[in-house]
Amino acid sequence: MEMYEWYMIRATGTVAYIMLYLSIIVGLYSQVQKKRKRKMTTSLYWHESLANWALVLTIGHIGFLLIDSYMSFNWLEVLVPFASDYQPLSMTLGTLALYFIILTIITSKLRKVIGYQKWRKLHALNPILYIMVTIHGLLSGTDFFGNILAVVNILPFIIFGVVLMKDSLIRKLAH
Ligand code: HEM
Repeated sequence: MEMYEWYMIRATGTVAYIMLYLSIIVGLYSQVQKKRKRKMTTSLYWHESLANWALVLTIGHIGFLLIDSYMSFNWLEVLVPFASDYQPLSMTLGTLALYFIILTIITSKLRKVIGYQKWRKLHALNPILYIMVTIHGLLSGTDFFGNILAVVNILPFIIFGVVLMKDSLIRKLAH
């Protein structure tokens, strides 16, 4: 495998994952703003832009896989679930995630046509996309990606737990 192609496959996959992660975080934040009756224009703009960038980088990820001479993936193996002999489960999750992200972006653009309530139900399926990509990265990723996974998925829970514990400790001391 050409070294630069290998790096680019990994880099585009990793950055696509981070973009998707940030898009979800900003999307969740926009719901907090909604509850507080604040303007959501900026957060929704970033929510959508980050998702678009996730798709662009995923297309790059696939592009580098197709030109990489060592792995020699073809269109069929990339676009048809279970068509690849190389890590079939992980590759299928990647392929399904690609379709999922395309569908999410298209249906979001057409939300007025689809109807808001219907679209919201569809949009609520997106955690499945995140889980699929996370498993894909876990199965096919390197240690470096494993570290990123730990930082973005485990660290927030630890920070949240510490903040909660600190809050309850402060409340106990105040009584
Ligand atoms: C939303 C779609 C996708 C995302 C976000 C994504 C993300 C990732 C991530 C984060 C990694 C790990 C990178 C690392 O270890 O540094 C990876 C690896 C990989 N992905 Fe994807 N991927 C997607 C779709 C696909 C598709 C459709 C295929 C092909 C069927 C694919 C094939 C691979 C392969 C072969 C690797 C291992 C690369 C290597 O070790 O050199 N991915 N992907």
